[in-house]
Amino acid sequence: MNRSEAEVRVGQLRAQIERHDYQYYVLDEPTIPDAEYDHLMRELQALERAFPELVTSESPTQRVGGEPLEGFTEVRHRTPMLSLANAFSAEEIEQFHDRVIRGLEVEHVDYVAEPKLDGVAIALHYRDGRLQQAATRGDGNTGEDVTSNARTIAAIPLRLKNGDADRSWPARLEVRGEVYMPLAGFEAYNELARREGRKEFVNPRNAAAGSLRQLDPRLTAQRPLAFYAYALLAGDAMPPSHYEALRLLQEWGLPVNPEVRRVRDAASCLGFYEDMAARRAELPYDIDGVVFKVDRLEQQETLGFVSRAPRWAIAQKFPAQEVVTHLLGVDVQVGRTGALTPVARLEPVFVGGVTVTNATLHNLDEIHRKDVRVGDWVVVRRAGDVIPEVVSVVPERREGELPEFEMPAACPVCGSAVERVEGEAVFRCTGGLFCPAQRIRSILHFASRKALDIEGLGEKLVVQLVETGMVHSVADLYRLERDDLVGLERMGEKSTDNLLAQLERSKTPVLDRLLYALGIREVGEVTATALARHFGTLEAIGAAGEEDLVDVPDVGPVVASHVHAFFQESHNLEILEQLQDAGLRWQPLEGPEGEQPLADQTWVLTGALGMPRARAKNLLEALGARVTGSVSARTTVVLAGAEAGSKLRKAEKLGIDILDEDAFLELLEQHGVSL
Ligand code: IVH
Repeated sequence: MNRSEAEVRVGQLRAQIERHDYQYYVLDEPTIPDAEYDHLMRELQALERAFPELVTSESPTQRVGGEPLEGFTEVRHRTPMLSLANAFSAEEIEQFHDRVIRGLEVEHVDYVAEPKLDGVAIALHYRDGRLQQAATRGDGNTGEDVTSNARTIAAIPLRLKNGDADRSWPARLEVRGEVYMPLAGFEAYNELARREGRKEFVNPRNAAAGSLRQLDPRLTAQRPLAFYAYALLAGDAMPPSHYEALRLLQEWGLPVNPEVRRVRDAASCLGFYEDMAARRAELPYDIDGVVFKVDRLEQQETLGFVSRAPRWAIAQKFPAQEVVTHLLGVDVQVGRTGALTPVARLEPVFVGGVTVTNATLHNLDEIHRKDVRVGDWVVVRRAGDVIPEVVSVVPERREGELPEFEMPAACPVCGSAVERVEGEAVFRCTGGLFCPAQRIRSILHFASRKALDIEGLGEKLVVQLVETGMVHSVADLYRLERDDLVGLERMGEKSTDNLLAQLERSKTPVLDRLLYALGIREVGEVTATALARHFGTLEAIGAAGEEDLVDVPDVGPVVASHVHAFFQESHNLEILEQLQDAGLRWQPLEGPEGEQPLADQTWVLTGALGMPRARAKNLLEALGARVTGSVSARTTVVLAGAEAGSKLRKAEKLGIDILDEDAFLELLEQHGVSL
């Protein structure tokens, strides 16, 4: 065969394989046996080997996975990936439906009812019909680039089918859906792992998540992953309803769950739930509930969002699984702020897809309320990814007298006195940073992503550093030398160098991040930014009295007293000094000094933004703007995020300036705020 003949044949083979993929994954109706499909694939591989110049990245043969990556790069979602509100009863679904009816001022609503797959969310970007990028959900704003891995999943088309000529895809579109591991594949994988003495996956969800986050795409390629699409984002090209959007996705070659139905009103939603619950065990994949979405996009828009979840959709979850096991003991764990948490030590028990050996008991009041005693048989519940908890005891199984549980009078880690603040449920170790447990937790917090973001400083390492006495405080981290680190457990030369580079990189934090990293009680990210913004320097914050601190937006008397107390403590001041000696230089917050270019302007924020809303508000206020909650004739600008609803329409009606988030970021940049 010469080159041009090969080119023709390669084209035919690819078209045939893509058609069979579509038959198999989208229509669930394979038309040829597996052996024949493999035969086509092998012929294509042979031709591509003979004529390597004919290989393209979209060829079905390329699903075997490319070179391993060093790490994943971050991807910012242009439209945040939101989560769903949960309902656990029919009553909650009826209440949801009532809110929808009232919000829309209609009598009936169409919903789309979908199974809620238990896998990992993924966003797929197609450009001119080709898969360009795939990203995980991450924190909803920023995920990880898993394109090389997604390419290995046969159910994800590398090229879109054209669909009906007049319903063809737009040049850019985003598809969201769930990557999952079908049960058959999960069991086969574990069976093989067992035989080969490798680690098994605990459940299909972890299997899907672990496989998708492999640095080596060739490993992902060997995992039996599948995919169902559940959302289309296509700007002006959106059809008027979600159901039609799913239809379009299918026409373009994306698999959509065949169980999806269009239903009307709450009663039919509940019927769908009952049906899925009854058939759950027969489905070829794990589901943890069902999802109902208002069908008409226009109605979705009217309803809008509350914080991170849409008002137009809800998940009805299957009841959490509960099992009975023996309570062997109660351990007391010490957190970053010294809070003691009682944790149940259980006879291992399989529940909700994993073996549970620990469960939270929350606090002493809860233990007393439930009358839980060591030696009891207890009911343990595990729902989704939530930490398992002890729900109740089985009183008839208690044998003889068991002593009541009491909190220890001394910290189980450092032996310092334990105190309970009047009116609080929490007991605390008074050891402060003398207590290794608190030290470990505060160092981990200092290094965490939203704080100084020191990659590679994980729990195992920090425990070693603290327990060997190499690190007493966060300042000691910057005194670590290569020789100290190489030779610690799990620390090779490469990870040591990476960690040292990370530490060096972390030496110029922006003031708000440093403030957050210090772990002052009640000072979260937003408060840290507000404080940094208001005072400008750490010295000014340290010198502020409680009466000055409460002037800061977001800061009440409790926060003010914690901040003030932190800077009165000589030990904390010493650590700040040591950090400076080690070369840390905190940077003033980006943005203008003193000048207030947006003074006299009144802004309203609506819709879902990529950055936390409180942050947008802080930034605007720093530039002098007033930020209010409702649109009126006095509003200067409306910042409209994704899926903005009634406020946006009102602004349009009143002829008020509207900015989208990109324009807002540009405006910030113009005013010297770089994010
Ligand atoms: S819609 C704004 N539909 O459930 C709505 N999510 O909390 C965004 N999930 O991690 C999600 N099946 O990956 C939607 N049919 C479905 C789903 C589904 C599973 C997952 C999703 C996300 C979580 C939502």
